[in-house]
Amino acid sequence: MRLDKLISACGVASRSETARACRAGLVTVNGQTARSADMQVDPETDAVSYGGRAVVYRRFVYLMLNKPAGYVSSTDAGDGPPVTDLLPEEYRRMGVFPCGRLDRDTLGLMLLTNNGPLSHRLLAPRSHVAKSYRFAVSGPLGRREAAMLEAGVDIGGYVTRPCRVELTGPDCGVITLTEGKYHQIKRMMERVGVRVTALERLSFGPLTLDPALERGRWRPLTPGEEAALGALATPAERV
Ligand code: URA
Repeated sequence: MRLDKLISACGVASRSETARACRAGLVTVNGQTARSADMQVDPETDAVSYGGRAVVYRRFVYLMLNKPAGYVSSTDAGDGPPVTDLLPEEYRRMGVFPCGRLDRDTLGLMLLTNNGPLSHRLLAPRSHVAKSYRFAVSGPLGRREAAMLEAGVDIGGYVTRPCRVELTGPDCGVITLTEGKYHQIKRMMERVGVRVTALERLSFGPLTLDPALERGRWRPLTPGEEAALGALATPAERV
């Protein structure tokens, strides 16, 4: 791999910055000053440093974000700024994107990664990855409506898969889906006569929203969380 590609893939500096840093003698490979950014390096075995700091090669990164309201699940601005604006520049340089979509006003757990194949698998309809959401609705929701939601409701030509609804109050609860249609929970609630007034994702597959992670903040997944995600992937899709 080219030295400048490695350094930019690690989010340390762009390719043009790396070229300048090489000319200034700030980049070393195995202790020797690298004179040219296009030299070939082996990311697994060569020791690269940039400005005196070791460059640690990670093919993929995985971040947990506690999404605030107002941000769109994208890498580009839409109806609001993209969630990737909440990350440091180095992650944007590494091509990190949100795995799946939450509505602009939905809060909570988002996985961000640059692992396209794994993201694709987690989101594939046949994967049936479970996602749970805390919700509040505009009026009372009883056992009867919860049972209708659990059995599946028609949201405009599509009958939703069986799901789980736990009521935690007269107008709130936790719903767990194994699919993700556009505005699914909002459309399901409309079918039972109420409107969603608040929605927060609490879990996504094996990941649970870290209660210590403040709204708008992110952190890398722990090794345990990464391993749990990796268990859902084929060897080629892994870390
Ligand atoms: N269902 C919705 O209606 N919105 C979301 O953001 C996620 C699930």
